[in-house]
Amino acid sequence: MLKYLGSRVDMNKSLLIKNIGRLVTMEEGDDRDGKLGVILDAAVQIEEGKISWIGTSSESVNMNADDVIDIGGQVVMPGLIDCHTHLVHAGSREDEFNLRSQGKSYKEIAEAGGGIMSTVRSTREASLEDLYDEVSKRADEAIRNGITTMEIKTGYGLDLATEIKMADAIGELDSSHPLEVYGTFLGAHIVPAEYKSRRSEYIDIVVSQMLPQIAKKEWITSCDVFIEDIAYSIDEARSIARAAKDLGLAIHLHVDQFGDGGGAKLAAELGALSADHLDHTSKKGMKLMAEGGVIGVVLPGASFFTGGGHYPDVRKMFENGMKVAIATDYNPGTTPSLNLMLNASIAVTQMGMTCDEALLGITRTAAEALGLAYRGVVAEGMRGDLIVLDCTDEYYPLYRYGENMISQVIIGGNAINT
Ligand code: NIG
Ligand code: FE
Repeated sequence: MLKYLGSRVDMNKSLLIKNIGRLVTMEEGDDRDGKLGVILDAAVQIEEGKISWIGTSSESVNMNADDVIDIGGQVVMPGLIDCHTHLVHAGSREDEFNLRSQGKSYKEIAEAGGGIMSTVRSTREASLEDLYDEVSKRADEAIRNGITTMEIKTGYGLDLATEIKMADAIGELDSSHPLEVYGTFLGAHIVPAEYKSRRSEYIDIVVSQMLPQIAKKEWITSCDVFIEDIAYSIDEARSIARAAKDLGLAIHLHVDQFGDGGGAKLAAELGALSADHLDHTSKKGMKLMAEGGVIGVVLPGASFFTGGGHYPDVRKMFENGMKVAIATDYNPGTTPSLNLMLNASIAVTQMGMTCDEALLGITRTAAEALGLAYRGVVAEGMRGDLIVLDCTDEYYPLYRYGENMISQVIIGGNAINT
């Protein structure tokens, strides 16, 4: 379902990166080191936005390019892929964080009119220009954190005009910012307060008005539904997702964040690209997802920041044959952080992932969760999206949790300064 390979950066320039201490390709090979397929003392060439050559530094001595960078033995890996975010919104919710620190739960705050609804109110009031200004600053921050591709959801509008405004802010980012963006329609995030007693009317608006207009926008490639007792039921999610599929959108689902609601089974039934959160998913749900080829996306920051100490059982997911990616779930309520590498560290310490699994989860498997075949791996023909890490091995950024070791971000063969 790859939409388009477009990029806001200059794809005509060539770039040669020399003197790479460890090139972490994310693809095993006989001549390579470990599960992450590390090539020692490597060099990479990027032409027309794509990786055109991989070899050793000595082979690269007489090679040339428009730009040549000697990185002095640092580590290079694919640009990080954040496959689940709510990057577009107005306002912030540190007041709720303070309330939660005093013992109020996320659900209690939501039921009292705060939570998602509070961000909906601010987002409805903001102009498209204001939304774009805020989101482009966050996109800069994402790039500084090594993120080169990002999925971004709507879902803080919950009325036709504001959902379109959010979709357009995502489109504006897509056309004018170097970050590679894939948009998801999340009109069924929660039922907006004004439709509480008329939820089927709201779902009708989602299906017959919002979806057809928003699915036409080429940068909106998928649809998501939040399945939870405070949001949508399985049957409601099924009808929305089926309508989205009929319009050619791929499916992601928010599943089992606060309890086991059976969403994993629905994800398998629908052939969803991914089911995300999975904090309370049963073994049966995991098996069905594995059989249906649904990628599990865990969101360590959301589990961490909402507290309670409950994390998804990733070891059980692997035992049942699933593939697991990691995303930030950046949003103003449950996890306002864009530090994807820190999320990977939390997945290691709190969910039992190995360091190798976590690094694959923020690159190669994250690309699969978005249905994007041409990124997340360093190989000829892949997009020239790479990050340079100021350290001597790939585990160091996980180990120095929360620190930013990124010294250079390359998108489509261009060094990006934010
Ligand atoms: O992914 N789970 C639903 N949506 C968000 C929370 C959004 C919010 O609180 O603003 C999430 O965690
Ligand atoms: Fe989310």
